Amino acid sequence: MNSKVRGLFRIALHLTLFFPAVFLLAQNAWAADQDLIGRVNRLCGPLPQAMPSEQNPLTPAKVKLGRMLFYEPRISIDGTVSCAKCHPLSLYAADGLKKARGNSYKESPRNSPTIFNAAAQISAHWVGNRTGVEDQARQSLIGPPSYGMPSYASVEKILREIKGYLPLFQEAFPGESEPVTVDNFAKAVGAFERTLVTPAPFDDFLQGKAGALTGEQKRGLVAMLDGGCLTCHFSPYLGGQLYRKFGIFAPYQTYTKSSPVDEGRFAVTKDEADKHVFKVPVLRNVAMTPPYFHDGSVEQLAEAVWIMAKVQLGKDLPPEQVSDIVAFLKALTGRIPAAALTVPVLPAKQ
Ligand code: HEC
Ligand code: HEC
Repeated sequence: MNSKVRGLFRIALHLTLFFPAVFLLAQNAWAADQDLIGRVNRLCGPLPQAMPSEQNPLTPAKVKLGRMLFYEPRISIDGTVSCAKCHPLSLYAADGLKKARGNSYKESPRNSPTIFNAAAQISAHWVGNRTGVEDQARQSLIGPPSYGMPSYASVEKILREIKGYLPLFQEAFPGESEPVTVDNFAKAVGAFERTLVTPAPFDDFLQGKAGALTGEQKRGLVAMLDGGCLTCHFSPYLGGQLYRKFGIFAPYQTYTKSSPVDEGRFAVTKDEADKHVFKVPVLRNVAMTPPYFHDGSVEQLAEAVWIMAKVQLGKDLPPEQVSDIVAFLKALTGRIPAAALTVPVLPAKQ
């Protein structure tokens, strides 16, 4: 055999030995991905197309009106407050402030959560003192640090003065003799919110596309599953389905340096067991909506993750695991729907 033939022979031998090994490795990785996809689908599942409600069926006319009312500042006490002020859709529907600012720069007691993927929770607000998005929209109007209006009647008066709204309310609520009401404002805004879902690489992964997450993100997901994060942050929204104490293993303020300390759901139920209990928040788009926690006390996502493990699970996460989890949480940053990326023209008064 000359040296050329020997060379070729050696290559062929290597290939026959090497390829099965690569094949086996690839097969193992594939099986591990499928296993992970199956496991996480049992706890989460991909986002739906919308978050419908039997009490408030979605219609195009209602959603269109709700989108306009979302931007309407003329129904607030100083003419400057709309939903968009505290939930700017271009900032992933949160305002980036520790605590929101409403009419006359008044401070809200808590941080603005995102309203994307928010309509399918057990309730609305950090302490669950609103039954759902429609109730939330209605009560915003008379919230002193929010729109600050003295009564629902005063809102209806302004809405009826803006003549261009009448045909839009009539179309959205056909057959009603007086469709321009605060209840219909709430239904229309709620309907718009129910369309605001932001599918992300995580959804592609759940639907079987293993390559949608990087290796680091998969490690972060496994860390969250094995560590117990998803016992609270489950559902397609990764949250919104339970109330839990913030600070099970240690008082949360030890780590967040919060002052004052919020009593949480105790304020709603007056039950001692509800002290420092909050709704488990949705984690969709969390990388885009700092600062974190009900009081915006923590700016960095990595720090929020470390604190969660410490006070909710009694674990001191090493930095590599924190950064894997943060990488995974970035895979929850979704695509904002087109209707939320343009602004509507609002009707004229005359
Ligand atoms: C002044 C700022 C401000 C305005 C105006 C405002 N919000 Fe909010 N929003 C907040 C804050 C702060 C919270 C959290 C309140 C709490 O939990 O106590 C919140 C909570 C919510 C929630 C609950 C989300 C969740 O995950 O629990 C929804 C939904 C919501 N707002 C929608 C709206 C809509 C719709 C409007 C307009 C009708 C509106 N908001 C107007 C600041 C504001
Ligand atoms: C026992 C239930 C529970 C467990 C376990 C849990 N969380 Fe939380 N999580 C909560 C609650 C409740 C809050 C709201 C705290 C507050 O601000 O009042 C929260 C808030 C968060 C926030 C802040 C969200 C925001 O928008 O401000 C992040 C991020 C988070 N959790 C991630 C995690 C991670 C990662 C793990 C696992 C290491 C985890 N959580 C484990 C209940 C839990």
